[in-house]
Amino acid sequence: MKIGRNDPCWCGSGKKYKVCHADFDEKLAELKAKGEKVPPHSLIKTKEQLEGIRKAGKLNTEILDMVAENIHAGMSTEDINKLVHEYTIAHGGIPAPLNYCGFPKSVCTSVNDVICHGIPSPDEILQDGDIINVDVTTILDGYYADASRMFCIGQVSDEAKKLVEVTKESVDLALAEVKPWGHLGDIGEVNSKHVYAHGYTVLHDIGGHGVGNDFHEEPYVCHIGKKGTGMLLVPGMVFTIEPMVNEGEEDFFQDEENGWTIYTEDGSLSAQWEYTVAITEDGVEVITH
Ligand code: MF3
Ligand code: CO
Ligand code: CO
Repeated sequence: MKIGRNDPCWCGSGKKYKVCHADFDEKLAELKAKGEKVPPHSLIKTKEQLEGIRKAGKLNTEILDMVAENIHAGMSTEDINKLVHEYTIAHGGIPAPLNYCGFPKSVCTSVNDVICHGIPSPDEILQDGDIINVDVTTILDGYYADASRMFCIGQVSDEAKKLVEVTKESVDLALAEVKPWGHLGDIGEVNSKHVYAHGYTVLHDIGGHGVGNDFHEEPYVCHIGKKGTGMLLVPGMVFTIEPMVNEGEEDFFQDEENGWTIYTEDGSLSAQWEYTVAITEDGVEVITH
């Protein structure tokens, strides 16, 4: 059914459609007619949802800062899990990974050749020279924010340090490309170019995702792409940028026993950095800074 110009806008602002998203929808319809892949309204967050997602992002960042202060050689990845779990609960949040599709812990901890979805364990002790990704997703008042960082434990090799740095740079470069009326492929091109320039690879088949009202929403954010292609980026979209960068080949395998943990096939190191971002009227807002 077509919305009337004097009806309340679909975005939930309470304003009349004609003074709210009417021009926006007209622009989207024109772009769609030109062959652009335009996002459905369901991917455009309302002001209220954005507020909620920002609050979840703030808590998520506090949790990662708390991890940064406490992480050290000699602790187990289960110790990290406990820290994240308890801090989240104490601040009124819910750790999204816990029981998500059967995931058994409250955070993902991915050490060295683990690409992602490492499961915290009391038997896994952080060693001097390890690199680890800690991926935290927090639910607050029903809204989700998702971010991860790398941590270098003690003295790590120059090679490992470089991989971690280049991965972070690739996210920041992609971030600089994110703008309203750009395309998802802009992110993929910038990210993969930077990674390849350093002789690394980036996963094609596991990547970012819409987030905010749920843990994993549309669209899929691929970190390999071509500028000007893929879904149009429009104000109100919220998604993650989270390239998984391997020192060696892109190939990976999944732990058959736990059904979760993803390793590099060749045993090489892997790094990842993740932000949740929102497209604004004139640029991008990092929700998890
Ligand atoms: N946080 C991961 C992501 O960035 C997803 C982890 S799913 C889990 O999308 F179940 F392993 F927690
Ligand atoms: Co994510
Ligand atoms: Co994540």
